[in-house]
Amino acid sequence: MYTQSMDTMAREGGDNAPRVMEDAALQARFDERIDAGGFIEAKDWMPQDYRKTLIRQISQHAHSEIVGMLPEGNWVTRAPTLKRKSILLAKIQDEGGHGLYLYAAAETLGVSRDELLAALHSGKAKYSSIFNYPTLNWADVGVIGWLVDGAAIMNQVPLCRCSYAPYARAMIRVCREESFHQRQGYDALLVMMEQGTDAQRAMVQDAVNRWWWPCLMMFGPHDGDSTHSAQSMRWGIKRISNDDLRQKFVDATVQQAQVLGVTMPDPDLRWNEERQHHDFGKIDWDEFWRVVGGDGACNRERLAMRVKAWDDGAWVRDAASAYATKQAARLADAQAAQRQAEQHLQAA
Ligand code: 3HC
Repeated sequence: MYTQSMDTMAREGGDNAPRVMEDAALQARFDERIDAGGFIEAKDWMPQDYRKTLIRQISQHAHSEIVGMLPEGNWVTRAPTLKRKSILLAKIQDEGGHGLYLYAAAETLGVSRDELLAALHSGKAKYSSIFNYPTLNWADVGVIGWLVDGAAIMNQVPLCRCSYAPYARAMIRVCREESFHQRQGYDALLVMMEQGTDAQRAMVQDAVNRWWWPCLMMFGPHDGDSTHSAQSMRWGIKRISNDDLRQKFVDATVQQAQVLGVTMPDPDLRWNEERQHHDFGKIDWDEFWRVVGGDGACNRERLAMRVKAWDDGAWVRDAASAYATKQAARLADAQAAQRQAEQHLQAA
């Protein structure tokens, strides 16, 4: 089992020997629990690097959820029916809730929500590149539900067994709601394909052509190019690798596309009997890193909207903290009065 205590052992016998010994024992207990497939709670000792990578991943996951509300938010006022509008509103509201669960999970690691949001607003923290693509028409909303939320489910289900327990617990509720998100998107596309006009069917195919490759990028770089995968898998944060999850997603989605009556924009996509998986073409990693680096179609717009929402919400935060201060003062006064009354009673 990979362990960080090797470098602290080197200092053994120095003036901080007891501390080193204690850390080594704590590290050994942590390693033992991780090796046994156990879970780490917020109050448990953990290596600083484990804490750091969890803050990185959970906060970026939360940022993805709240930025992910924006592309679809664009279509609430343009939904084709009241039913579709209410479904879309429910989905977007869910995504906001997912962001809150995940910010709350990140806060258990000793970081404040303000710090996390400041990292998002300054561009220091990432969010999923997929949300930097434009939603051009109603078919995009269906494809986001079917493919983007489908990819998110594939990537999030293993996180329900993440070794950091608060994150795993948050993911269980998120995954239940994600399956509704995927089904509503697929249902909207089925209606367009089965009852729509040729033009609407063409819209669906065009949306699939624009979203398919960015969805494959959602799973992150190839395992060999992944900065964090090896360590995250040793720590039980990542249970299945980027490439294996991507492959699972392709295999599951190709069959759904056949039922829908659309094709994927990949001439190399075909079933490989020997591998028992679908082979697929090369991902354009230049596009991926360009978009991750801030140069996608909507990066600036998305970040500007998040910063505006934060600024516009300042008065709500101020009012809430003023109210909390007043409530705390009222409680302190009531407790002081209670203590005084008890002292009078005792004195009488
Ligand atoms: N978009 C932006 N950045 C990405 C990315 C993507 N699709 N995939 C990878 N990266 C970044 C990583 O964050 C890392 O950069 P960092 O060191 O600055 O954080 C770098 O590329 C190297 O990637 P790694 O594979 O080494 O990084 P990870 O081990 O963290 O794996 C991940 C990336 C698979 C996205 C992992 O972080 C993860 O599983 N995160 C939790 C799930 C998540 O965030 N999903 C995003 C979508 S959420 C969503 O879609 C909401 C739904 O309701 C719509």
